[in-house]
Amino acid sequence: TANREKYRPAYHHTPLYGWMNDPNGMFYKDGKWHLYYQYNPYGSKWQNLSWGHSESADLVNWEHKPVAVKPDGLGMIFSGSCVVDKANTAGFGENAVVAMYTSADVSQMQSVALSTDGGITFATYPYNPVITLESEARDPNMFWNEATGEWNLALAHALDHEMLFFTSPDLKRWTLQSSFGKGLGCQDGVWECPDLFKLKVDGSGEEKWMLICSINPGGPFGGSATQYFIGDFDGKTFTPDRDADGSVPTKWMDYGKDHYATVSWSNAPDGRRTVIGWMSNWQYAAEVPTQQFRSANTLPREVGLFKAGDGRIYASTVPSPEVDALRGKVVKHVSKMSAGRKAKRFALPELCEITLDAASRRGGNMILTLGNDKGEKVVMTYDAANGTLSFDRRESGITDFSQDFPAVTTAPTFTADGKLGLRIFVDRSSIEVFGKDGRFAMTNLVFPRTPYTSLTVSSDRVAQITSLNIYEIKETK
Ligand code: FRU
Repeated sequence: TANREKYRPAYHHTPLYGWMNDPNGMFYKDGKWHLYYQYNPYGSKWQNLSWGHSESADLVNWEHKPVAVKPDGLGMIFSGSCVVDKANTAGFGENAVVAMYTSADVSQMQSVALSTDGGITFATYPYNPVITLESEARDPNMFWNEATGEWNLALAHALDHEMLFFTSPDLKRWTLQSSFGKGLGCQDGVWECPDLFKLKVDGSGEEKWMLICSINPGGPFGGSATQYFIGDFDGKTFTPDRDADGSVPTKWMDYGKDHYATVSWSNAPDGRRTVIGWMSNWQYAAEVPTQQFRSANTLPREVGLFKAGDGRIYASTVPSPEVDALRGKVVKHVSKMSAGRKAKRFALPELCEITLDAASRRGGNMILTLGNDKGEKVVMTYDAANGTLSFDRRESGITDFSQDFPAVTTAPTFTADGKLGLRIFVDRSSIEVFGKDGRFAMTNLVFPRTPYTSLTVSSDRVAQITSLNIYEIKETK
């Protein structure tokens, strides 16, 4: 069992010991959600990168498994993906789990490994590497393309700020088909950790492809962040949606500072597109005030698409339905309330979910403050007139381990009807905020010296709260 460090999350996935970055290689099979992650089993800094492994029947209680892929003669084991080869296209056996990851030494090459025991142990393919390129390329993400009857692979051409697309009949022989991204989106940092999948646009019969493309640095609030593109993919080429003026908008999956390398589970049931992200930022991931372990993953989330008032299609992210099972008792329920300059105050359990609906008040800000008895606080401000929600963690607790940690992050709320529909998840060292129907997500780490014990609601004018609930959240395994 895990040591009880103060900031160890109570209901987020985290390694028992050691360093973790990107979630990767995730797949679902036989009732189990497998989660692999960039892992140093020997200490809490980025070294000896291997694939750590956890599995879960419900996406929230995780069982820790032995390290699944360890460094070999080709180098460390960087991020990658897994697929379930149902039709035995690779010849490794029906339903073999096939992984591809980046072998990282002086150069970066793509290697294959296979598992015939459902993802517990992997054997490396003797003819590795399967892809070598002249410049840095990593984080291979494979998927079966129904429409073309071939395997596809997206690979990050990191320093060239683009993604490469390949095809294969058998997961071993790959043909480069195209590249995407030169000059588009955020170009400030390296491009990493692609994922590419098709989704329905909410409320229409339309289907679109979403290309996830993590970048570091260049995020909207500094450091690493997860951008994405919406467009079409014909099995060879990705064509982005453009605005009327021909430009390709830059979009973000999350408007906090601590959401990176997000990718989806392969072979998920019921057509779900379930993702999880690394809840940290390369700016300070190695300095955060934890000791025996470093980093946690976000709550699992379901991705969808919606058309916003500006005519563009955006990604939505809601907590996966399994997260609802973590709700304990309602400690506060308010069905109607107005808040002005004098704050309304509620007691907050250490682990909780706060849900809040508010009607728009033009020109007034609604202010939610989570605070403790040391005067440490997180201040969230909803500016209805501008349609933004900001999150200020400058006085949230321990912030001085990095000059990049104190920050204010801001999300567009995409609310035409003024209804916010907030869900706020508070764990021991993180806060995740979701807007109605997942129109925005915002993930930020916080390190309060003692837990936040109160929520206050106030406004510089009058805020109409149409519902407020505070639920206890149960600790997971
Ligand atoms: C992203 C990343 C990947 C790489 C991995 C190495 O955070 O830089 O591109 O595969 O981390 O740990």
